[in-house]
Amino acid sequence: MGGGLVSGDVDLSTGLGGVALRNPVLLASGTCGYGTELSPFIALEQLGGIVAKSLTLAPRAGNLPPRITETPAGMLNAISLENVGVDAFVREKLPALPAAVTVLASVFETELERYAEVCKRLDGVERVAALELNASCPHVKAGGIEFGQDPRVLAELVRTCRRATTRPLLVKLSPNVTSIAEMARVCEGEGADGLSLINAVQGLLVDVHRRRTVLRNGLGGLSGPAILPIALRMVFQAARAVKLPICGIGGIASGEDAVAFLLCGASAVQVGTITYTQPGAGIEIRDGIEAYCRQHGVARVRDLIGALEPWPAG
Ligand SMILES: Cc1cc2nc3c(=O)[nH]c(=O)nc-3n(C[C@H](O)[C@H](O)[C@H](O)COP(=O)(O)O)c2cc1C
Repeated sequence: MGGGLVSGDVDLSTGLGGVALRNPVLLASGTCGYGTELSPFIALEQLGGIVAKSLTLAPRAGNLPPRITETPAGMLNAISLENVGVDAFVREKLPALPAAVTVLASVFETELERYAEVCKRLDGVERVAALELNASCPHVKAGGIEFGQDPRVLAELVRTCRRATTRPLLVKLSPNVTSIAEMARVCEGEGADGLSLINAVQGLLVDVHRRRTVLRNGLGGLSGPAILPIALRMVFQAARAVKLPICGIGGIASGEDAVAFLLCGASAVQVGTITYTQPGAGIEIRDGIEAYCRQHGVARVRDLIGALEPWPAG
């Protein structure tokens, strides 16, 4: 492909199930708080958007520490969905964000009816561009992962939440499943508008000297560069199984990482762990995608979606 595009002429706009995004880079749920923590330091409105920390019906305390640790190529966490609760988010956190920031709300609960109630409370909130159902937290004792691991339970969850909201509904899938394609089809069949994948991969670390798990919870969620190939594989397989737009997540640390997700079929991406060492990473990744497009003569970022080339036969 030839180069030759001049500055400013790459169209970075994209979309996710009815949500228009000014560019494909969002910050991942749980890694950017409610945005308010970051907005004094980063121009969040220059990103495609943010996905706020998962919200439950009532405020929720997290696990006791140690609940976060480094791994050779990432992070293991068992925060366990500590959050202020949906009403405080709507009342206090959302109005404190600059108006130009596109906000997606993430919904988590431990029972079906409670998931639906959180969706209902967010339904009429104008600032919320879409809901992302967290059906996949890898280290919560009640709820969490089992909603995302059994296709029948996942179907019931998506059906129930679909009835509870008119907003665009994305479902965030767990990588801790046998067939991501099957789970993607379940979501499509129940009326989801898009998929986000992946959440963290279940992991465990051991302190051999104390003969204890490093995290008090035992299990944690592995995120960061270690999970990038797993996430790419799952986006690739899900994109071939359904027509739904996909938001790719997992270990993205550069514009080229993000482009790889787009080529595998993602319409947008979310970045998480990298922001702990580089708070401005989202904007650098957006710039990296733009630089890639210019270098390869791509006028519209949408042209990259699913554009992976097959190897020649033989
Ligand atoms: C500290 C931490 C907290 C997280 N909290 C949430 C959460 O509340 N809801 C959710 O859907 N995902 C949560 N995640 C998962 C991320 O949104 C993302 O799916 C995962 O970290 C993979 O992306 P990454 O490798 O870019 O971090 C959390 C991840 C981390 C590291």
